[in-house]
Amino acid sequence: MASPERRAALPKPAQYGRAARASREQSPAAPSSDGLPRRSLGAEERGRPALNWSPVNHQLGHRNDGPACTPVQRALLALTIPLETLQAVKGRMLQAMRKGLSRETHAQANVQMLPTYICSTPDGTEKGDFLVVELCQSHVRTLWVTLLGDGNQSPQVKCKIFDMPGDIMQGKGEAAELISWSKGFSCSDVEGKDVVQLLQAAIDKQELYHVEVVALMNDTVGTMMTCSMRGQPCEVALIAGAGTNSCFMAEAQQVEMAEETSGRMCVNTEWGCFGDDGTLSDILTPYDQYVDQESSNPGEKRFEKLVGSLYLGEIVRHVLTSLAAGKVLFIGSNVAVLRTKDVLKTQQVLEIIDTEEGMAKARAALDALGLRPSERDCCRVQQICRAVVSRAAALCATGLATILSHMCQSRELERLVVNVGVDGELYRGYTRFGEILQSVTGLLAPECMASLLPSVDGTGQGAGMVTAVTLRLAAQRREVDQLLAPLRLSRADLERVQALMRREMELGLGCQTNANASVRMLPTYVRSTPDGTERGEFLALDLGGTNFRVLVVRVAQDSIHIASEVYVIPTTIMQGPGEALFDHIIECIMDFQLKQDLMEHVLPLGFTFSFPCQQLGLDKAVLLSWTKGFSATGCVGQDVVQLLQEAAQRKQHLGLKVVAVVNDTVGTMMSCGYDDPNCEIGLIVGTGTNACYMEEMKNVGTVKGEQGRMCINMEWGAFGDNGCLDDIFTDFDRLVDKKTINAGKQRFEKLISGMYLGEIVRHILLALVEKQLLFRGKPCPKLQTKDIFPTKFLSTIEIPWAGDGDGDGGANGARGSDGLALRQVQAILQDLELQASFEDSMLVREVCQTVSTRAAHLCAAGLAAVVEKMRENRGLAQLAVTVGVDGTLYKMHPHFSQHLQHMLQELAPNCTVTFLQSEDGSGKGAALVAAVACRGTKP
Ligand code: BG6
Ligand code: GLC
Repeated sequence: MASPERRAALPKPAQYGRAARASREQSPAAPSSDGLPRRSLGAEERGRPALNWSPVNHQLGHRNDGPACTPVQRALLALTIPLETLQAVKGRMLQAMRKGLSRETHAQANVQMLPTYICSTPDGTEKGDFLVVELCQSHVRTLWVTLLGDGNQSPQVKCKIFDMPGDIMQGKGEAAELISWSKGFSCSDVEGKDVVQLLQAAIDKQELYHVEVVALMNDTVGTMMTCSMRGQPCEVALIAGAGTNSCFMAEAQQVEMAEETSGRMCVNTEWGCFGDDGTLSDILTPYDQYVDQESSNPGEKRFEKLVGSLYLGEIVRHVLTSLAAGKVLFIGSNVAVLRTKDVLKTQQVLEIIDTEEGMAKARAALDALGLRPSERDCCRVQQICRAVVSRAAALCATGLATILSHMCQSRELERLVVNVGVDGELYRGYTRFGEILQSVTGLLAPECMASLLPSVDGTGQGAGMVTAVTLRLAAQRREVDQLLAPLRLSRADLERVQALMRREMELGLGCQTNANASVRMLPTYVRSTPDGTERGEFLALDLGGTNFRVLVVRVAQDSIHIASEVYVIPTTIMQGPGEALFDHIIECIMDFQLKQDLMEHVLPLGFTFSFPCQQLGLDKAVLLSWTKGFSATGCVGQDVVQLLQEAAQRKQHLGLKVVAVVNDTVGTMMSCGYDDPNCEIGLIVGTGTNACYMEEMKNVGTVKGEQGRMCINMEWGAFGDNGCLDDIFTDFDRLVDKKTINAGKQRFEKLISGMYLGEIVRHILLALVEKQLLFRGKPCPKLQTKDIFPTKFLSTIEIPWAGDGDGDGGANGARGSDGLALRQVQAILQDLELQASFEDSMLVREVCQTVSTRAAHLCAAGLAAVVEKMRENRGLAQLAVTVGVDGTLYKMHPHFSQHLQHMLQELAPNCTVTFLQSEDGSGKGAALVAAVACRGTKP
């Protein structure tokens, strides 16, 4: 039992009126006039045992509560739930809600947590005319809601009310999948049926209008939707009226009864049934038991029967009946009238608790029943009414606190700030209800900051809003799908890309056809992968990826030791005169040698130069074109070894001995080949993309000799530069290409690699904004800036969310939690001065996924052509091969590798392909190539 200090401390109403004051004066230890727990009311203060209600041991009027406790005080105490008990009730409700959400336990759950399939709140762009039909307690209300979509979110509403005769409410269902009726309804033939169908059939029967039933919703959802209309989203609603219920925006993946796994979905809690399994027995009083037994659905809706206004009058009546029977109230009057159901209406209870008029109202109500109340009777009746209504408010608050804590936890927030729409006659008719609701919620969920927003004609307009939002979302979905469709490549598209790649490979290998092939298939003069006998100490350069690196690689019998340094190449040097670029490279080498104490050594050098080169030998490589943002002048058509050596002379560095130039794909294949002899393919998916593989010499028409194999640097980034991929390029790809320094070139690379994906996404986002599908169409000046959305954003934004059913178990990257992932997306967008709603974030993520998935699938199509060719070359039914792979996009993106591998398996089912990620960069491979080269020359 709670100690007095731990009970809810609630703000006292300014004044309770004469009678209330009088009663406090009579008994300072009595419960407060509104029956709520107060610091001053501790029963323990008077040394009596704490109140411990249970329907079993509680016998009204027979409790031994000590001499100071009058029957009225006992009744009031029984109706007063201490804060500690409310906390416990909150815990039980949380459990009940979880039970309702889980697929396994849903069937047995009392709190059903029904998915509503409403996944969005209004954003002000909704427009159109919507007809709303609202089934109320005693009437049907129709509303004609017009939304202007002007962002100011105030709908125009015309309303008409029709009476609902009692015989219709309880007759056959035709006149209106319902689970059960409540609040006095009990039409036959309706439970278990789809209400939308029934309504549509009824409308169609009239043959008057074309009205399409778009949405059916619970009144709580309607309330939430209208409260959303005031500028900020409202994500919780509760109704404290005839019945009670609530809804909130839950994380969709927790709503297991719906298939949605991402985003949010509004859940209708149906919390009225909380306690139907007996969980509330410790707070139920005998009065509640009587009310329940006399209701049309005994044992059901136990929580609602403590909170809903349909029952409060009845609870009060039963308290009065008991007290009158014990000769505590209405002494000398005939109290038989109190045995009649519903003689005291909740409306009267609400009037009686009014601070100003309450006493007069009490007298009038009791007089009307012929109870001839004394002043004291009136005062006590007022106290009892207050206790009953306050308990209802406190329980309602407990439910709200449960929802808020659940939301806060599942969104992984330290603090939840949220708007709560509230409607219902109890909330509207009794200010103190809202005050109690607010303060008890604050006590029970201190980590949440809820602003209660009274709903103005919530439920009806809300239905209009839901309909409008549903239609808006459907229209938006269609437009988004249309916009993204060209980026979603079908299996047939990819098979075609694979076949085209194969054709271009053949053209590139052919002596006659090579000049016109978009895939150059450049010979590398690397004839074998490492065999483990390589030894020595080498310098290596690694130029052309994100980082420029200088390395020293020591290859010993059973280990390779590497030391390296990263140097920056400023854009001015990348795009300035070639001499300056190579001078800069020499300066970096000298700096490195100095740091490594290698100045006096003349070490053989392997040069990873990741650009297309026509190799005339292992140490002679003519640059064919720059790619990836390089454009240093005077280099194309020159031997890069020569350019490096000339720079060395200019810088008087005399000890440079370049023995091999390799492409990064080759360096990667060699590096991984050192660990896995099966590695005969090198793949890069980084700033650029490319692949190399071991081809049969007899197929390489551009190099003499028929024996053995040679590694071919495909330069597949240029695939499509001859127009063969034109029909898969989208407008976005064309826009990106146009803005590059090598427009029309490296077209395949521009669909796949890190230098371009962020740009593609940026252009799509701009298009979505322009079509008003994102950020509410608000112009985004920062997003106009080229390269402001780098590809690394895709990796962050696409981190799997807890609810994602991608099946990789997070193996390919850190699995983020939903809350964290969402915050990361929003943080990125916020840096770009974009105010992203939850749905905006989801859409941005979808765009990123579409672009990166296409990239991975295209890469798979290219690779499928390679492995299939290798398999055919070797006359094998099944090929087992390893791909050495490197590149920031491949390594950092949470799904790229998985999508690539999965699609490769689909497209090349006869090849078993293992991917081996290069850990040491391609410098190590360049050193291994240098080692092989030196083997022949060493004594
Ligand atoms: C590095 C290699 O690890 O990856 C480079 O050492 C290669 O040779 C690079 O060019 C490719 O990835 P990115 O992302 O740096 O372009
Ligand atoms: C570009 C280069 C190519 C390199 C690839 C990966 O496509 O032309 O040589 O292998 O990027 O870095």
